[in-house]
Amino acid sequence: MKFTLASCVACTVLVSQVAAQTFQRLGTCPTLGCIFPPDQADFLPGQWFDIRLEVHAPQNGSERVSYAQPDGNFTFTIARDGQRGVPAAQFFNLSEPALQTWNFTWYEDLFAQAARTPSLVRVASKAYRKVALYTPGHYIATLSYQNGSVTQANWTVRDIAPRRRAKNTILFVGDGMTTNMITAARLIAHQNLNGKYQSLMAMDQFPVLGHQMTHSIDSFITDSANSATALYTGHKSTVNALSVYADSSRDPSDDPKVETIAELFQEIYRGGVGIVSTAFIADATPAALTAHTRDRSQYGQVVDSFLKGIYNYTWVNWTGPDVLFGGGAEQFYPNSRSFQGKNYYTEFANAGYNVILNNTALQSASNNSRTLGIFSVNNMAKWLDRNIYPANLNISSTAPDGSRGAATDQPGLKEMTLKALQILHTRHSQDGFFLMSEAASIDKQMHLLDYDRALTELLELDDTIKATIAYLESIGELNNTQIVVTADHGHGFDVMGSVDTRFLAAQTTDRAKRNAVGTYQNSGLSQYVRPNTSAPVGSDQNVVYSQGVNFPNNFDPRYTLFQGVAAFPDHRENYTVHKRGPRVPALNVTGFDSDDFYVNYVDAVTGFVINGTLPVSADQGVHSLTDVPVFTMGPCQADFGGVYNSIDVFYKMAACLGLSRTTPVPR
Ligand SMILES: *[C@@H]1O[C@H](CO)[C@@H](O)[C@H](O)[C@H]1NC(C)=O
Ligand SMILES: *[C@@H]1O[C@H](CO)[C@@H](O)[C@H](O)[C@H]1NC(C)=O
Ligand SMILES: *[C@@H]1O[C@H](CO)[C@@H](O)[C@H](O)[C@H]1NC(C)=O
Ligand SMILES: *[C@@H]1O[C@H](CO)[C@@H](O)[C@H](O)[C@H]1NC(C)=O
Ligand SMILES: *[C@@H]1O[C@H](CO)[C@@H](O)[C@H](O)[C@H]1NC(C)=O
Ligand SMILES: *[C@@H]1O[C@H](CO)[C@@H](O)[C@H](O)[C@H]1NC(C)=O
Ligand SMILES: *[C@@H]1O[C@H](CO)[C@@H](O)[C@H](O)[C@H]1NC(C)=O
Ligand SMILES: *[C@@H]1O[C@H](CO)[C@@H](O)[C@H](O)[C@H]1NC(C)=O
Ligand SMILES: *[C@@H]1O[C@H](CO)[C@@H](O)[C@H](O)[C@H]1NC(C)=O
Ligand SMILES: *[C@@H]1O[C@H](CO)[C@@H](O)[C@H](O)[C@H]1NC(C)=O
Ligand SMILES: *[C@@H]1O[C@H](CO)[C@@H](O)[C@H](O)[C@H]1NC(C)=O
Ligand SMILES: *[C@@H]1O[C@H](CO)[C@@H](O)[C@H](O)[C@H]1NC(C)=O
Ligand SMILES: [Zn+2]
Repeated sequence: MKFTLASCVACTVLVSQVAAQTFQRLGTCPTLGCIFPPDQADFLPGQWFDIRLEVHAPQNGSERVSYAQPDGNFTFTIARDGQRGVPAAQFFNLSEPALQTWNFTWYEDLFAQAARTPSLVRVASKAYRKVALYTPGHYIATLSYQNGSVTQANWTVRDIAPRRRAKNTILFVGDGMTTNMITAARLIAHQNLNGKYQSLMAMDQFPVLGHQMTHSIDSFITDSANSATALYTGHKSTVNALSVYADSSRDPSDDPKVETIAELFQEIYRGGVGIVSTAFIADATPAALTAHTRDRSQYGQVVDSFLKGIYNYTWVNWTGPDVLFGGGAEQFYPNSRSFQGKNYYTEFANAGYNVILNNTALQSASNNSRTLGIFSVNNMAKWLDRNIYPANLNISSTAPDGSRGAATDQPGLKEMTLKALQILHTRHSQDGFFLMSEAASIDKQMHLLDYDRALTELLELDDTIKATIAYLESIGELNNTQIVVTADHGHGFDVMGSVDTRFLAAQTTDRAKRNAVGTYQNSGLSQYVRPNTSAPVGSDQNVVYSQGVNFPNNFDPRYTLFQGVAAFPDHRENYTVHKRGPRVPALNVTGFDSDDFYVNYVDAVTGFVINGTLPVSADQGVHSLTDVPVFTMGPCQADFGGVYNSIDVFYKMAACLGLSRTTPVPR
């Protein structure tokens, strides 16, 4: 009989394609035997990681097996570069870990979800904690289970020598920042004469530009948690996972961990670590530097991890960052959102930190102490509100001390970053520092379709980069410092023309209002940089800058940008700046489900309705697929040109800092 290999292969492919879609049993485990880190994983030599093995026994649904429980007899070997496999316990000189069992359920597709018929899976598992591979090469990890079934993972330890070429690294993350947004920000902040910009953004002047692909390990759209994991550990991961691979167990803190660049840098050099963000500081991008959890919303534990490293078992010898600046006071003052209800201002102060809560205190803080600065209860105020519409800061209960007060004295990204650099330089002038500085609200405001706020957050990032370069130059550290500016993912944003907002407001029907849009030659010129007509053309005085050369000087021109994103909830648009604070495009309304969102009329009363394209449960926009830019200057800049994967940003930074360990280190 002709063995139908071709059709059998096709049917396996079909099954796994279905199983790898909207819902997945476990994204990185298409078969019933799972190895984490999975096939295709890369490692920095000597990087600590955990191994998790799982064997699945689906009890019903399309993958049903005939036995009620995995037999628990699995063998796991590791073979280096074509050598014979060695049992992992022997390979890593560990005792064999204990067997664990649990169950989980999942939906195979939207029909199963609608019918509430989950598939049940029984699991047997083992975990090998805190291991490392020191010798570059290819390793085949082989799991044999359930009477001869086999899963293999091909791991690569990259050949990266421990040669330090940069003393310091500064990683700027423009959360959600795309090339399209940079182009739009340039248009509103920099004057153009006859098609030529008269000034450029700091990013425009970087010598090297690359593109990174943001694809997650098990889905093609990422969130900030798994993309931060890729940038900081060199390992792809799953949506909502911070510096771990996602296993199927219920406990979010037992998933297999991977050592981050901040942990490596502190362990190897005792160098300084700074973490700065305009988000609440437990948010994914800052969190993934020290937290290791499947669930990014474990905010209290994230804050604990900044101070103490990983909770429960020894991971790395983390001694805390030198600088931690951002929002998110609700995880610090004692309340139900702080870890175990504790007061983390006190916890940090007891560990020797100077604790500051406003910009005045930030400016006068000593550069000698480790410093915690928390400036608002949740995400920090936006540049547009701090600088143009300051009345919007007067919101009660935003004060970082947990009082009913308003957080009216907040620094911006530039103030936080410069202070962080002063502290890091003072405390680590010999051993160097690693600083991550995140412009978080580019993403947060893009989600809300508030393009004016998103683009000014981006301009604030650019202003911060410009000031950082000037500061490094002034202290003689510019040529020792690797500066990397990138994003973690994009949004489908672009500008397609301009809008005559006066004409739009004067029309009475939605269809007529759309005639206010000017495309191609009718787009005209940017009205956001108001020229000074009394100054000679081309002179420095040609533009009146109210907020410095990096920002628009007119936020409310008659002709605004015709701009938008590719996927959105129901909303109204009149294309003018939201003067009363970040916009609210869609609302859930009385009489309908709480996750059923409709256009918010007051968001743009003179505007017209744009019906949503996202599921009605979405009240804001979403991330998109686009590659994102990587701007680099300083040592190793030549390594960053071209198109590469998000994880390569980690390997390039780690290589430049010389973070490989090539001889075994005691656990
Ligand atoms: C466990 O599995 C191995 C091979 O996978 C087999 O050689 C061995 O006999 C099994 N042991 C038991 C107790 O079933
Ligand atoms: C393996 O570990 C044991 C104790 O944990 C230690 O005595 C032994 O020296 C180690 N062997 C190697 C080769 O590292
Ligand atoms: C898994 O589910 C089965 C049946 O529901 C139950 O008998 C068993 O105790 C469960 N095992 C675990 C580890 O929860
Ligand atoms: C699988 O079994 C679980 C538990 O018995 C049940 O709730 C679920 O509906 C079943 N799913 C299917 C697809 O049969
Ligand atoms: C493992 O992966 C590497 C890189 O993709 C490849 O060069 C190598 O041939 C693979 N080895 C095996 C045994 O599949
Ligand atoms: C960690 O320790 C806490 C407190 O002892 C405990 O509640 C929790 O279950 C532990 N988590 C893990 C993963 O061991
Ligand atoms: C961790 O590092 C600190 C500071 O260098 C040191 O005092 C401590 O002994 C280390 N602890 C361990 C367990 O290595
Ligand atoms: C800023 O914080 C200091 C304490 O560090 C406090 O004395 C001062 O009143 C605060 N200023 C404002 C405007 O809240
Ligand atoms: C950086 O510049 C200083 C002098 O400005 C020089 O002494 C040092 O060697 C330079 N370092 C590098 C890595 O080029
Ligand atoms: C909107 O949803 C939130 C959260 O579920 C709920 O608290 C609120 O009552 C809802 N509002 C209306 C008008 O349904
Ligand atoms: C656009 O809508 C906002 C909010 O409803 C309103 O305040 C503003 O005046 C409108 N702009 C124009 C130009 O009509
Ligand atoms: C928006 O959708 C509603 C139905 O949900 C429809 O009645 C209305 O005509 C649509 N409006 C536009 C401008 O497409
Ligand atoms: Zn986002």
